[in-house]
Amino acid sequence: MRIDIMTLFPDAVEAMMGSSIIGRARERGFVTIQTHQIRDYTTNKQMQVDDYPYGGGRGAVMQADPLYRCWQHICDEAGGRVHTIYMSPCGRVLTQQVARELKAQYDHLILVCGHYEGIDERVLEEVVTDYISIGDYVLTGGELAAMVIVDAVARLVPGVLGNEQSALTESFHGELLEHPQYSRPDVWHGKKVPEVLLSGNQKHIDAWKKEQSILRTKERRPYL
Ligand code: ADE
Repeated sequence: MRIDIMTLFPDAVEAMMGSSIIGRARERGFVTIQTHQIRDYTTNKQMQVDDYPYGGGRGAVMQADPLYRCWQHICDEAGGRVHTIYMSPCGRVLTQQVARELKAQYDHLILVCGHYEGIDERVLEEVVTDYISIGDYVLTGGELAAMVIVDAVARLVPGVLGNEQSALTESFHGELLEHPQYSRPDVWHGKKVPEVLLSGNQKHIDAWKKEQSILRTKERRPYL
């Protein structure tokens, strides 16, 4: 899987995507994640990417042309149009189902990160094929949202987690939240690990896990 991220802050994205599980998956070639500095595609000396909004209002708007040229460069290298997602609070909300759909339907994605008061609508109309929000709140830019998508989608790529089992038993597989987990010591602050987990009886353990998942889902996400 390949994901290209168009951003004004590639260093911030790289810092996050260079470590931990995603960093390892990149090194091992399971996923290719490439950041692109939108500013590099300006044609003015000041490398300005934003301007005042027509019609007034506060803040600045990201101009169409640098974004378009950056997007075109990525598509030229890919040999055709790539599914392009604009990270926006106005998009459909990211869920595990959406992450699974992106992983299943595309092997190449472009994520566009906006800043300031938004992006000139005309370039969005030309390049964007999907709008995704990570929740009903407003962030200062699309980078955090893009990183959330990369993480949620990349971990579904075979090999990325190393242990395929953890992708299977995770929260939301089968639409249930994950059961509680425990590790050593078996007593901590006077609290004991549930007896059944120490019993060695796998059938009882599996039944307990399932029951806990159902209880937790009923309590915390009844709509699931
Ligand atoms: N950009 C700003 N807020 C956002 C959100 N909630 N989701 C995705 N992108 C965003």
